Amino acid sequence: AAWEKQVRLSSTPRRTNGFSVLVTGAAGFVGSHCSLALKKRGDGVLGLDNFNNYYDPSLKRARQNLLSKHQVFIVKGDLNDGPLLTKLFDVVPFTHVLHLAAQAGVRYAMQNPQSYISSNIAGFVNLLEVAKAANPQPSIVWASSSSVYGLNTENPFSERDRTDQPASLYAATKKAGEEIAHTYNHIYGLSLTGLRFFTVYGPWGRPDMAYFFFTKDILQGKSIDIYKTHDQKEVARDFTYIDDVVKGCLGALDTAEKSTGSGGKKKGAAQLRVYNLGNTSPVPVGRLVSILEGLLSTKAKKHVITMPRNGDVPFTHANVTLAFKDFGYKPTTDLSTGLRKFVKWYISYYGIQSKTRKESQATGESG
Ligand code: NAD
Ligand code: UGA
Repeated sequence: AAWEKQVRLSSTPRRTNGFSVLVTGAAGFVGSHCSLALKKRGDGVLGLDNFNNYYDPSLKRARQNLLSKHQVFIVKGDLNDGPLLTKLFDVVPFTHVLHLAAQAGVRYAMQNPQSYISSNIAGFVNLLEVAKAANPQPSIVWASSSSVYGLNTENPFSERDRTDQPASLYAATKKAGEEIAHTYNHIYGLSLTGLRFFTVYGPWGRPDMAYFFFTKDILQGKSIDIYKTHDQKEVARDFTYIDDVVKGCLGALDTAEKSTGSGGKKKGAAQLRVYNLGNTSPVPVGRLVSILEGLLSTKAKKHVITMPRNGDVPFTHANVTLAFKDFGYKPTTDLSTGLRKFVKWYISYYGIQSKTRKESQATGESG
């Protein structure tokens, strides 16, 4: 069938010993960037995404259009569709899965808790079941999250720090994913690598994240809410630029062991690995806002809320020594540089929507 032909074409590598990678969440922010990077270096890539409407699906379709120009095909489907996943693995002998599909976002869990259980727990298990039964068994690299550190106060966070105090249901499902991964590695010998991303930002980013809607609201002259910690300090995040995260994902794929199909007790069986992928330099949210003000040549209308946002953690800060040691991960983009690239993309994608911005451009003040 035409569909099968497209699936095969997209997932066939063009370089010698190239990978065949199933990228779940390929129409998402991180997934679209990783799919492009893999395809550009000669790996075969097949995307899977359900194009849900958690945020504007037209942005997901625009990312899909970009990928299709590079011969990356995205199958529309859900992680929970077992027969579909089995069919994909029947058609393609995937060497790797880069599993990025999830219900992301911290606050939305209070509106729609079930979507976190369905995608991040049930969907993940469904994928592992299919991968376990596949021949060959793929190596799996998947997105965990810095949120697993929860209310941990070690600074910076290392992979061995405690992760038993999640602050949101999102964090709890990501932590559950790590525990579930351990069992599939232990019993079935699946090679599993979890990546704890730290607040990733950049072009083609997620409209539900603060840097994105701050940019929109500043340009439109709307006020923005800035939350504080319980003890009235500034909240800080280890904001990490997308290109650094992409390099980390590819490094983790490149160094992933082969699945053995024989369980973790056997000598030489694949290990379960977990790594931080952060920027190693946390920035207070107030500083994020002032960088954006400079780039947009517009003052933000700040509304300071003297309480934490529900589900928020006070700070995040990655120690990335382990990822550096194992696959040379080294973040190179500071927040000002990365935000400049984001703002450039934002304006070219959405156009300039604010009068203030147009006026400041006319008077040559634009930065
Ligand atoms: P995203 O929402 O842009 O991408 C996720 C994609 O998965 C979306 O396109 C969505 O349509 C798809 N999806 C969701 N549920 C699905 C399902 N059940 N079946 C099929 N497709 C489904 O998010 P992102 O920022 O690209 O995040 C990628 C991964 O990284 C997620 O697992 C997220 O939890 C994790 N993460 C992201 C950040 C960040 O700051 N962006 C930080 C830590 C962890
Ligand atoms: C982000 C992603 O949204 C999660 O999907 C991801 O798992 C998480 O990073 C992670 O690193 O694991 P978060 O850091 O909370 O979560 O990102 P934002 O929602 O963009 O918030 C960033 C900061 O801005 C937070 O400190 C938050 O308190 C602050 N903020 C957010 C405000 O001050 N005002 C707002 O209106 C929104």
